[in-house]
Amino acid sequence: MGEWGRLLLLSRFGIEEVKTKLNIINEEYEFLHDYNPIEHIYTRIKKPQQIIAKLERMGVEPNAVNAYKHLHDVGGVRVVCSFARDVYTIAEQLKAQRDITVLNVKDYIQNPKPNGYRSLHLIVEVPVFLTDHVSPVTVEIQLRSVSMDLWASIEHKIYYKSGVALPAELSAELTDCAEELARMDTRLARIQDEIKWVMATEKEEQDG
Ligand code: GTP
Ligand code: MG
Repeated sequence: MGEWGRLLLLSRFGIEEVKTKLNIINEEYEFLHDYNPIEHIYTRIKKPQQIIAKLERMGVEPNAVNAYKHLHDVGGVRVVCSFARDVYTIAEQLKAQRDITVLNVKDYIQNPKPNGYRSLHLIVEVPVFLTDHVSPVTVEIQLRSVSMDLWASIEHKIYYKSGVALPAELSAELTDCAEELARMDTRLARIQDEIKWVMATEKEEQDG
């Protein structure tokens, strides 16, 4: 197996391990609490051209072995949760698993980027069991709510990595939208709690 083939295969296995863990957390949560905190899971593997470009930017000889050593985002998993609070529920459960090693946490929900970007980024290492040895694989996990994902996908299309500078007014408005969406997130989560409470009270009355 060529080194590039090995790298991409390992990244895919790492992604599969993480995705399975997330699906188990979500389904058990649904079983226990009748609520599924995860809306969608997306995965992606960086293409060799992107990997080479990133290593060159870092000033490292661009080969697969260096990619395995130096890059933490060849394999990526994006978890879209219903609300911001669900992001932390999922992240805590994942971090607590004993075969997961958390290498880095960037909490852009507690500390949004100046443009308004919000998400919780984890770099984790997960063991992948191969026929004759175990390979640790790093995976970048981005956790965000539906409202954060809405904002990030729009902003990405307009702006991120395109290098085009927006007029100051427009970028200020975009940041303002991120803040408004964050307030909506909290409001909708509160409404959901109140509905749950109303339903529970009604059931109690019915049951006597
Ligand atoms: P990269 O070199 O791009 O991997 O960035 P980094 O090492 O500084 O990591 P960071 O955790 O800040 O960002 C990693 C990823 O998060 C990016 O590749 C995007 O997918 C996402 N991201 C970060 N900032 C933004 C942003 O301002 N807007 C959007 N739409 N996505 C962002
Ligand atoms: Mg990246």
